[in-house]
Amino acid sequence: MINNKIPLMNLTRQYQNIKKQIDTAVLDVLSSGQYIMGPNVKTFEQEFADYIGVNYAIAVGNGTDALRIALLACQIKPNDEVITCGMSFFATAEAVSSIGAKPVFVDCNPDTYVLDPLKIEEKITSDTKAIIAVHLYGQCADMNKINYIAKKHNLKVIEDAAQAAGAKYKGEYAGSLGDVGCISFFPTKNIGCAGDGGIITTNNEKIARICRAYRLHGSGLDGNFTYNILHNINNTSTEDINFGKNLPKYFNFVIGYNSRLDEIQASILRVKLPHLNNWNKRRREIANYYNRHITNPLITKPLVNNDCEHIYYVYVLKVAERDRFREFLDANGISTGIYFPVPLHLQKVYTDLNYKQGNLPNVETLANEGVAIPMFPELTHKELDKIITTINTFI
Ligand SMILES: Cc1ncc(COP(=O)(O)O)c(C=O)c1O
Repeated sequence: MINNKIPLMNLTRQYQNIKKQIDTAVLDVLSSGQYIMGPNVKTFEQEFADYIGVNYAIAVGNGTDALRIALLACQIKPNDEVITCGMSFFATAEAVSSIGAKPVFVDCNPDTYVLDPLKIEEKITSDTKAIIAVHLYGQCADMNKINYIAKKHNLKVIEDAAQAAGAKYKGEYAGSLGDVGCISFFPTKNIGCAGDGGIITTNNEKIARICRAYRLHGSGLDGNFTYNILHNINNTSTEDINFGKNLPKYFNFVIGYNSRLDEIQASILRVKLPHLNNWNKRRREIANYYNRHITNPLITKPLVNNDCEHIYYVYVLKVAERDRFREFLDANGISTGIYFPVPLHLQKVYTDLNYKQGNLPNVETLANEGVAIPMFPELTHKELDKIITTINTFI
């Protein structure tokens, strides 16, 4: 075992670089005594909406809740079908199932790894109501084609941009490309909290209001607005409710969640957001360095769609003899990871959906051969050269 192994991701190096600002921001929140839905959350929502280039951003407890709430805001109902990619973190499918809808899985592109839009239409039925476009590993799915298919079949488009904060497609940010976008601030993400966090982005005021209702127990003016929509009551203005002298949050209209971003997390994200584009640029430089210098013919490198600005949440190679490759790197002090070893359609929980091995061949190859190598902005040149030399000597 070699000490000082090069990690796959590293959060402490980033923290050391911005420690003073983070510590000040967190201590200010602690002193303020306002820990939930305070000024940092409100300001961060505006700052993030401005950054992405959308009208509304609704901060929530995590990326999984962002997806769940976005699906509800798109009025996806039990037994509706939602098409998504067979390769993603489980939360993509879990969000669909958790509201009683049915996930339908399609294959990915073998080179860029993102959902293959050519495989969508054959899966559309009269029950299909939405597509979740997963921007896998930090690269956007082919949104023009996905939006075209969605429009043709009257489907909603939800972006799972959990791994893609700051990624672009045709010059526009992930999260601004469909009806509604969902981003995770899980600590390892390109912009992460010191804990859980997420945000929903949209240009649609109705969707934004429904999301605000669901994140807060279906309460208040937004709750009443949502009730009216769900019950086809024409008056979607909020004037048909009178709270008297009572707090609106104690009036509940739909069954929602307690899913809010904490003030402390928002204060941390506000420090980090101005750095995000630089961090992502550095990740692209590292990826380009890998692309140029990894020359081992046993290794397949990831491709980037010309329309995309990849942000490399992870950098994933394909290697036929993956286990041996991982052992080799491990013995040489280099960490690796797998994103993800079990494709969604083959997860045991989805046995009843009746998928079989071989149904989504590109997704399955990625699950069997994909391997992530270290990727974070603070990687040193010495570390990069060691990683590249080691990979090129694997035989
Ligand atoms: C593609 C994808 N979707 C959804 C999620 C869920 O986000 P969270 O962990 O913040 O709930 C993740 C996160 O890890 C993810 O990678």
